[in-house]
Amino acid sequence: MNAKKICITLLMLAGAAPALADTPQQIQAVYTAEAGQGFKPSAERGRELFVKQWGISERAPGCTSCHGKDMHAVGKHVKTGKPIEPLTPVVNAERFTDAKKVAKWFKRNCTEVVGRECSAAEKADFIQFAIEGGKV
Ligand code: HEC
Repeated sequence: MNAKKICITLLMLAGAAPALADTPQQIQAVYTAEAGQGFKPSAERGRELFVKQWGISERAPGCTSCHGKDMHAVGKHVKTGKPIEPLTPVVNAERFTDAKKVAKWFKRNCTEVVGRECSAAEKADFIQFAIEGGKV
C-alpha cells in the first residue's frame, strides 16, 4: 500500500471505531490548543483558580464551596447538600472523560463562581491540576 492508501484506511478505521471515552489528556489538549500557540498548562495556576475565593456568588464564593478543599474527597453541594464525587481522575476514573460534560460544568460553575466563563487557558490549567492529583 502506498502512503495515501494507508492514510485513507486509517481514516476509515477511525470512523468505524465505536465512540470511545475521551481521556483527561485529550480533553485538555483541545483547550490547550484553543489557548494559543506556546501555551503550557500549569497545575499551579489551576490550583489558584480552584482555591481562590472570588466572592462573586454569596453562596458559592469558590470552587471549593461545593468540591471541597481536597479533590480526592467527596464534596458537598452548597445548595442541595448532595455529595459530589471526587474531582481528580487519580481516584475517580470518570472525571474528564466526557468532553461535553466537562464543557457543560465549566460553563455553569465558572459563570456562577468567577462571574464569567473560564477561558480555554484556565480550563487547561484546571485539568492539569486535577490530573496531577489536585492537592491544595
Ligand atoms: C454550586 C456548586 C458547585 C461549585 C461552586 C462548583 N462546582 Fe463544579 N460541579 C458541581 C456539580 C454538581 C458537578 C456535577 C456533578 C458531578 O460531576 O459530580 C460539577 C462538576 C464539575 C466538573 C465536571 C468534571 C467531570 O469531568 O466530571 C468540572 C470541570 C467542574 N465542576 C469545575 C468547577 C470549577 C472550575 C469550579 C470553580 C470555578 C466549580 N466546579 C465550582 C458543583 C459545583
